Parts: sequence; structure tokens; C-alpha cells
Amino acid sequence: MESLIGLVNRIQRACTVLGDHGGEGSSLWEALPSVAVVGGQSSGKSSVLESIVGRDFLPRGSGIVTRRPLVLQLHKTEGGQAEYAEFLHAPRKKFSDFAAVRKEISDETDRITGKSKQISNVPIHLSIYSPHVVNLTLIDLPGMTKVAVEGQPESIVEDIDNMVRSYVEKPNSIILAISPANQDIATSDAIKLAREVDPSGERTFGVLTKLDLMDKGTNALDVLEGRAYRLQHPWVGIVNRSQADINKNVDMIAARRKEQEYFATSPDYGHLAHKMGSEYLAKLLSQHLESVIRARIPSIIALINKTISELEAELDRLGRPIGVDAGAQLYTILEMCRAFDRVFKEHLD
Ligand code: GDP
Ligand code: NA
Ligand code: MG
Repeated sequence: MESLIGLVNRIQRACTVLGDHGGEGSSLWEALPSVAVVGGQSSGKSSVLESIVGRDFLPRGSGIVTRRPLVLQLHKTEGGQAEYAEFLHAPRKKFSDFAAVRKEISDETDRITGKSKQISNVPIHLSIYSPHVVNLTLIDLPGMTKVAVEGQPESIVEDIDNMVRSYVEKPNSIILAISPANQDIATSDAIKLAREVDPSGERTFGVLTKLDLMDKGTNALDVLEGRAYRLQHPWVGIVNRSQADINKNVDMIAARRKEQEYFATSPDYGHLAHKMGSEYLAKLLSQHLESVIRARIPSIIALINKTISELEAELDRLGRPIGVDAGAQLYTILEMCRAFDRVFKEHLD
């Protein structure tokens, strides 16, 4: 049976193909629950995503590396199957080399933004099929920043802020707020934003990275146990690869193992070990996303139907015969609607 998350992934891809990605009148995209990853530059966003996937595949570097939203769709496949990645903009090409995935993300970013280091709100869709992932969709966004670096337009700080907000303001969005433990939580960009758009903390998952980089003799229990900043969901602590680990090419599987050991043997966090780390975070998010989608099914179906009616009216207005493109779009949406209906019923049985 197709998972609900898999189905929403399909609708999201169709939205992008139809040019609906968060701008004016993007009603269907708005209705789809998704997980938006936010945090200041170098807070550990890319590291958390790579750890959740268990693969090294994101572009790295100084400055603003993520300049278009990356809609990362993880699809759990049966054991024994080979892992591969696929981009919506190159649908017939299967990537089994994740270094090539990294290069393609960079190249595709530049294709729209030029080498100008501008940002664009047109998302890149990347699907990863693997027996080692959970079903989950995450949207990687540019890191929040306070100053434009050389070669970047002054407006970039505000442009990034606007883009990130357009995702986290949606009532259906789940906010994965990444903050580094070696910095005061009160100054975290992610928490400042989450506090503004989700004051009750019901849509926000707090993630605390870099626990291993805290000063000796200090710990993050105040944050992890919800006293420093209270959220409805439990905080999750993470230990990602350090820069030295990355330079030494420590692989992600070894890094996850090291992370688990860190918590299991930690005098401060031992009692929380079963609720810490990137594997736990991935499971938590997957379960939550599925339950949010389940709750939203009726409104998503209503919106798909509304979209169909609007498209039909538009086609009537244009008169027959229907152009090939418009016909194909209508067909795509009809197919989605039928699929959604069918999978929804399967899930109800
Ligand atoms: P992003 O800019 O938010 O995407 O941050 P990155 O994931 O690129 O991380 C920035 C730097 O911090 C990299 O050098 C990482 O190796 C390092 N880093 C991230 N998380 C951790 C962590 O939990 N522990 C340690 N020691 N380093 C980390
Ligand atoms: Na931050
Ligand atoms: Mg990054």
C-alpha cells in the first residue's frame, strides 16, 4: 500500500510541475503538511538532514550554500533493494552515486539563480529510495543570516527571511527548529522564528545540535528537558559529525553509531538516551507527519476537488479543443485526486 506520506509527495511534485510552490494563490501546496528545516547558518541543518538520510549528499561550503528550497522526499523501500536518488527535473535519471547528487543540487541551484548567489523560491525536488530511510519529507531552506557576504545583494538577508517565513507561517507546516548547543538558546534564530509563528509550540520540534561542543562542566538539560524553552513536543539532542570527521570522511553509519554511543555513555544524558539522536528524530517526525496528514485528508481532498473545478472552468473559458498542455495538467490532477481517494480508503480499512 502506498503510504500517505508517499501520496502527499506525489501531490507536492505535481504542484511544482504546475508552478504552484508557495506564491500567490498556491492553495493546494498550502494545504499539504510538510516539515520545514530552519536554523541559523552553521547551526547543523545539513548535518541533521544527512544523518536522517544516512548519506552524504548535500553541497557544502562557506556562505549561503542552500539558495533554493530542497524538497527532500524519503521513500522506504523493501530490504535488499539498492539505494538511489532521483530529481523531479531529471525524472529518468537514477543516481546511485551520492557525490553526483551533491553536484546536481549545486548545478540545478545555479541553473535558476545564476552564479550570482541570489536565492530563488522555486524548489528542487529530490527523492531518495532506500531500505534504510523512514517515509518522510523535509524541506531544507537557506540558513537565516544577519549580513550579506561579498558578492551577495544587500537584500539577501530579507529575501531569506521572507522565504523561510513563507514556509513556517503555513498552519500546516511542521517546523524543525535547529539550534546549536554551544550558543545561548535565547539567541537561536530558529527559536526566535518559531516563537513568532508558533507561540504555543504545537508545530515546532526543537533540535539541539553540537552537544559535544559545549564547554566542559556544562550541559543542555535545561533545554532538552523543556525548561529553557517549552514546546509541546520533546526536544531532541543530536551529535553530528564534526568538521574533522567530515574531513576524514567518517561515513554516516559510523557517525550514527558514534552518536548513539555518546548518549548511551553520557553521564548527563544517559537517562534520555532512548529519545536522543538522529535515528530517533527521523522516526518521531515520520510518525508525526503521517498523523498530521491523516487529520488533514478531508481538507486536502476538498482542495483537490476545488482545483479540478477551477481547472475545468478555466478550460471551458478557453473553449475547446483543449491544448495538449492544459489537458495534461488536468489529467495529472485528476489522477492525483483518484489516487488520494483510493489510498485514503485503504488506510481507513
Ligand atoms: P548548516 O549551515 O546549518 O547546514 O550547518 P552544517 O550542517 O553545515 O554544519 C556546520 C559545521 O558544524 C560543520 O563543520 C559541521 O561538521 C559542524 N557540526 C554540525 N553539527 C555538529 C555537531 O553536532 N557536533 C560537532 N562537533 N560539529 C557539528
Ligand atoms: Na541559530
Ligand atoms: Mg547547510
